[in-house]
Parts: sequence; structure tokens; C-alpha cells
Amino acid sequence: MNIAPAGLPSAVAVTPHMVIKPSILYFGTPVILLSTENEDGSFNLAPISSAWALGQTVVLGLGGDGQTARNLASRPDLVINLPAPALWPAVERLASLTGRNPVPPTKAKGCRFEPDKFTAAGLHSEPSQTVRPPRVAECPLQLEARAERVRPDFSEEFLIVEATVRKVHADPRIVVPGTDHIDPAAWSPLIYNFRHYFGLGPERGHSYRTQTPRTLERIETPGD
Ligand SMILES: Cc1cc2nc3c(=O)[nH]c(=O)nc-3n(C[C@H](O)[C@H](O)[C@H](O)COP(=O)(O)O)c2cc1C
Repeated sequence: MNIAPAGLPSAVAVTPHMVIKPSILYFGTPVILLSTENEDGSFNLAPISSAWALGQTVVLGLGGDGQTARNLASRPDLVINLPAPALWPAVERLASLTGRNPVPPTKAKGCRFEPDKFTAAGLHSEPSQTVRPPRVAECPLQLEARAERVRPDFSEEFLIVEATVRKVHADPRIVVPGTDHIDPAAWSPLIYNFRHYFGLGPERGHSYRTQTPRTLERIETPGD
């Protein structure tokens, strides 16, 4: 039975829901690669999907047993690198690696210590301008940032990091020419959707607050 409220397309049918107990709740957030500085001045790289932006602040959720959490608790510089969907194999190569040695027993089965994660992932570093950890050259969007507040969550299993972005680097192919706008039609994050990797599909619409000229043109010009 289709009981979609008036005004919604018939495909948005409301059906009775079932109660389930999923083991994870990763409902589809962008993957980032966090570069941070290790105790010995080398650099760590880790995939993270618990991240969201609020103005120029990015909030991150980190497992307390990881090297990234250790690094940010003592050395606040970081780079938030955003891979495009095609980079998912490099991300997955990092999934079972940790910069911690010895590997803590709380880490997932099969996790091993790797001191050079850039090489292990097949990625290249390039120097940052305002922070010590390098950027990931292959990532179209790179945010140099500094952790302003690092604190445990209520369960004390995770760390909540609030970082302010200091400099944004963008591949010119995803920037609307002559502006500071990311072209949402040219950029897609890599989405971590219940432990599976996705890119975005075609644009469905836009916020009334968008300021991106090209997005408006695309939607208002059928066939563009
Ligand atoms: C796509 C993806 C998303 C992940 N998201 C998170 C996350 O949001 N927070 C986290 O602490 N670990 C996350 N992980 C797991 C870490 O990458 C993993 O624990 C890794 O060993 C951390 O490296 P480190 O110990 O060197 O910091 C994710 C892994 C993958 C592959």
C-alpha cells in the first residue's frame, strides 16, 4: 500500500518498519584520511568515517586505542584528506593497519603495525603549509587543521576531537572557475555505507542556501 503523504513522489512509500539490532550504525558518511604526527616525527595515516563539519570546525570520532588518537592527544596538527570514490582500494589497504606498536589487543583481528602507511596504501605525501603532517596528494580536497579540543566520549572508549580548519586545498577540477566554491556536481566524497564503499549518484536538488552558481545553472537548465 502506498501511503506517501501528498506532495511526495509515489516511490516514497511509507511501509511498516521492523525492529532490528544492527551491529554497526555506519549509515553513510564521507571517508577521510587523517594524517597526524607520530612521537618520533614520522607521520601516520588512517581512514576515518566519523567526521562532520560545522562552520570551520570539523568534529571527529576516534577509537581511543589507535595511533591517531594518541597523536592528536599530544600533537594537535592534522590534515583531513578527502578521497574521491575511485580511491577506495587505497583506503581499504589502510583498513587493517595501525601505527601503534605493539598492536593493542582491542584492535580488530588481523590488524598489523605499519610504520609507513603512505607507501603501504600506494599514496603520495606532499608538504602542508600551516601544519606538520603532510597532505595526501591523490585526495582532491585537503583541509589543514588543528585539534582545539580532544576529550573522551561518555563511554571513554572513543575520543571526540574538535578541529579548526586553517587552510583548504582543492583540485581545480572540482572548483567553480573564478570562485571559492566547490562544484558539487564535479565533486563526490567516498561514502562509507554500512562498511561498503559508494560514491554519490546524480544531483537530486539543492538547498535554498546554496551559493554555488554552477549548481543553480545545472538544475534550471534541463538537459545540461
Ligand atoms: C572506511 C573506514 C572508516 C573508518 N572510520 C573510523 C572512525 O570513524 N573512527 C575510528 O577510530 N576508526 C575508524 N576506522 C578504523 C581505523 O582506520 C583503524 O582502527 C586503524 O587501525 C586506525 O589506525 P591508527 O591506529 O594508526 O590510528 C575506519 C576504517 C575504515 C576502513
